[in-house]
Amino acid sequence: MEYLLKPFTIFGDATGSLIAIEALKDIPFEIKRVYYVYGTAEHAVRGRHAHRELEQVIFCPIGSCDFILDNGKERLTVTMNEPNKGLYLKGNIWREFTNFSTDCVVMVLASRHYDESDYIRNYDQFLKEISQ
Ligand code: TYD
Repeated sequence: MEYLLKPFTIFGDATGSLIAIEALKDIPFEIKRVYYVYGTAEHAVRGRHAHRELEQVIFCPIGSCDFILDNGKERLTVTMNEPNKGLYLKGNIWREFTNFSTDCVVMVLASRHYDESDYIRNYDQFLKEISQ
């Protein structure tokens, strides 16, 4: 399964680092929503869903975690531990997030407002929809 882990320029000097993200330039969509997840228990599993239309670029600006991606045929793990890498997800991919470091922050840029009808939260339903 191919996936895009896009690198962003780090503007760094002796005082620290800065990463800039611009919609429709670095991100291939207009950003309609930003959310972040933090304080997650190490062995918690979040996600466990797919999206029908949503596009996302996902960052782990602090700490680390594993993103498990599943297209119904193949399942792989992307370890997110670099603040300047954005994981671009588009299309119907089942995703699970786990192995959170205690300081982990996951920040998500999304192409649409929150819409529960865009979620597929049942794995069998996901397999059914991707086979159609
Ligand atoms: P959910 O997407 O299931 O979180 P995760 O995939 O990280 O486990 O969302 C958890 C709760 O937060 C759920 O009740 C819906 C709510 N929520 C919003 O209200 N707006 C949002 O943009 C998101 C992502 C979630």
